[in-house]
Amino acid sequence: MVTDILTWTRTRILGGQDPKHGAQSNAVLEPILGGSITPDGIGAEAAFGLFTDTIVPSTRPFGHPTSLSFVASAPSQASLSFDAALGAAGIFAGNWDGGAGAIHAENQALDWLAELAGWDAQAGGVFVAGGTLGNLCALHAARDWKSRRCARPDRWAILCSAEAHSSIEAAASVMDVDVIPVAADATGRMNAQAARDAWQPNVFAIVANAGATNSGAVDDIQGLADLAEARDLWLHLDGAYGLAAIADPETRPIFDGIDRAHSLIVDPHKWLFAPYDSCALIYRNAADAANAHGQSAVYLDTVDKTHWNPSDYALHLTRRARGLPFWYSLATHGTQAYGDAIATTISIARDIAQGIERIEGLDLLLGPQLSVVLFRPSHMSEDAMVRWAEEHRRSGALLCLPTKWRGEMVFRLCIVNPETDAKTVLETLKTLT
Ligand SMILES: Cc1ncc(COP(=O)(O)O)c(C=O)c1O
Repeated sequence: MVTDILTWTRTRILGGQDPKHGAQSNAVLEPILGGSITPDGIGAEAAFGLFTDTIVPSTRPFGHPTSLSFVASAPSQASLSFDAALGAAGIFAGNWDGGAGAIHAENQALDWLAELAGWDAQAGGVFVAGGTLGNLCALHAARDWKSRRCARPDRWAILCSAEAHSSIEAAASVMDVDVIPVAADATGRMNAQAARDAWQPNVFAIVANAGATNSGAVDDIQGLADLAEARDLWLHLDGAYGLAAIADPETRPIFDGIDRAHSLIVDPHKWLFAPYDSCALIYRNAADAANAHGQSAVYLDTVDKTHWNPSDYALHLTRRARGLPFWYSLATHGTQAYGDAIATTISIARDIAQGIERIEGLDLLLGPQLSVVLFRPSHMSEDAMVRWAEEHRRSGALLCLPTKWRGEMVFRLCIVNPETDAKTVLETLKTLT
């Protein structure tokens, strides 16, 4: 079966995903998968057959170039094949003792991102499962940092854009702190003056969008860094989706001020061509995070604290070296190829936006900002939009789902795959008119 599984893996990596695949209901899945756990086992062949014939076809093919909703993913063949090898290697990467080589290599990839941010050797961090956890861990470090510098208020608060990702609200709820939402401008961008007006003395951190999920907007990072400095606040950049664009020299200036932030996240599983699950969480001064996150226990006393232990930089202990598929792909292709691939996706988004403008019956509303485009069919009911989206998802032609923008239903495209074909997308969009 090992050979069979590797053969399937090879075919899948080289052949890609089937865009017609998608979720099935419990009613469909239960009769097939329901009896799979038995006292005697069903055997490797039968279990793997369930995986290939039922489990995989019942999942959404986010890695396919026609997947343009949410924030999809576009793992390179290098990263996918390496991920399979990484699984086989069985590396414990929670601390240096367990995973020295892997951790060192992961840190190379983190260093590349930190250097792009303009940070020096004091910077460092860790790969966590996703942007949600990355935001929570950064904000926990932020509160710990701030609580050493001032008296504790009745309630702590985070200042962020009203367009901040839902994970900020979720992190605030876990931390039992308030969120002060700042209205964004017409493009979805939070400007520093609005944040200054909304500031209150109990704020410990500002979260800036470095690529808002819904619009692609990048907040006024430079202005927010001024505010953070003036009020002695931690500035965190949520770049889970958009900060990948820092690798494109032409786009880099929109992140100006990033060198003054205290922490950032960017998900290689979104727009840096790595498989799930991988969020790079980096602190400008890693020692700040170690204060907040380091765990101690007698059974851990033998762990060598003089080395870099990833468990000190986020809310976790045991972890896989989830940053390594990203490291491998980056090492294989080089940083230039990464910058080029990001620039390519941005130009595909531009082509699609221009194409939409030329199609009578479609209204371009916003974008592209980074690689997000918002548009609407001029004459189509919301029900019809939902039906169209579902029909095209099912056929595998296009995953383009509605979202809300300024209270009304619109379509949103988010391109993270350099293999997305603008012409094919536009041909499909013409069926909306
Ligand atoms: C800006 C932003 N932050 C955070 C997240 C959450 O990331 P994850 O889904 O990896 O937890 C997302 C997800 O799309 C995002 O776009």
